Amino acid sequence: MSLDLQAVSKAYPGRRGGAPVQAVRELSLAVEPGEIVALLGSSGCGKTSTLRMVAGFEAVSSGSITLAGKRIEALPPARRGVAMAFEGYALYPPLTVRENIAFGLGNRGGEAGRRRVAEVAELLGIAPLMDRKPAALSGGEQQRAGLARALVRDAHLHLLDEPMGQLEPQLRAVLRGRVKALVKQRGLTAVLVTHDQAEAHAMADRIAVMEAGELQQFGPAAALRDAPANLFVATFFGEPPMNAVPAIAEPGGLRLRGADGEVAPGWRQDLPAAVPAPAGGEVVLGVRPGRLRLGEGPWRGIVVSNQWLGDQAHVAVEVCGRLLVAVSLARVPARVGEAIALGLDPADAHLFDAGSGRALAHGARRA
Ligand SMILES: Nc1ncnc2c1ncn2[C@@H]1O[C@H](COP(=O)(O)OP(=O)(O)OP(=O)(O)O)[C@@H](O)[C@H]1O
Ligand SMILES: [Mg+2]
Repeated sequence: MSLDLQAVSKAYPGRRGGAPVQAVRELSLAVEPGEIVALLGSSGCGKTSTLRMVAGFEAVSSGSITLAGKRIEALPPARRGVAMAFEGYALYPPLTVRENIAFGLGNRGGEAGRRRVAEVAELLGIAPLMDRKPAALSGGEQQRAGLARALVRDAHLHLLDEPMGQLEPQLRAVLRGRVKALVKQRGLTAVLVTHDQAEAHAMADRIAVMEAGELQQFGPAAALRDAPANLFVATFFGEPPMNAVPAIAEPGGLRLRGADGEVAPGWRQDLPAAVPAPAGGEVVLGVRPGRLRLGEGPWRGIVVSNQWLGDQAHVAVEVCGRLLVAVSLARVPARVGEAIALGLDPADAHLFDAGSGRALAHGARRA
């Protein structure tokens, strides 16, 4: 079912009379039926607060929440039709894993419910643990039981808060795919909270990047990568992050600033007419590590490190005191301390306003 948040804000009262904590600011977000949306952001950016307001465990300070065509922000949690897997699992200690998972189905489950519980437990790899109590499970097993309990439920909306945060990377990678397949197969609508961009990438149809309670950008992963809305998204989404170099715009190109903030003599970058820069404007040039060219180009740098990671090389190069990172799928024959030529195709340039961080233009090439 569709979920629509309109200008939702959350302020927690400050402790001991201090200033209130503004956890979520004017968040507007629409999730389509059958869609998986990831809320992605660093710790404390307001992800859990947002989910808890949708689930009804936390009141909104202002704004409206509409689910399946009905305003729900004033309804008690049980009347919202929302299933949630919590960050802290919240299993019932006296119940077995099986009873915990089946709990949300109530008495309506019957034979079909039992089958669904068994299927989801199998999928999440906890079938052998069904008769144990939560206290006899590891953290990762408890987490999977909590996730199973949410996934078996029939609900308008499934909210998953860091549902695999406790699992080791390999299991996590397997379960990402399985949980996504299950959500799609059952036609569920889901909001997934994660601070792992690989998880958001693998599971979500669209990603909402949040920072300090504010939505920075909402779109498919490819849009965040190819056309980041601002410098925050550009340097947050993508691994390793986008290189960002302050510059001053001049007709046809940029004069780049070294680490001391001064315009570095001779460090220039041409820009195509399609990437307009305000003449004299303070901007930031962005270039993805995979697009920085090594061994060719007008820039001169010194190799600071050169690591082969088995399938790609990560090379750090210092140019006018600034460290730039390049990723290459072939080994780079350059030793630490050597001089190296580098540069970029103007079609790979991204341009941001230095003051606001807002994107001004993106080169034509898409990843
Ligand atoms: N009950 C509360 N009372 C006061 N402040 C709170 C409360 N719950 C959360 N906060 C604050 O609100 C902000 C957002 O918290 P939230 O739990 O939504 O972050 P998050 O994005 O889920 O982070 P994490 O990735 O660490 O789980 C934080 O600054 C947090 O300290
Ligand atoms: Mg959280």
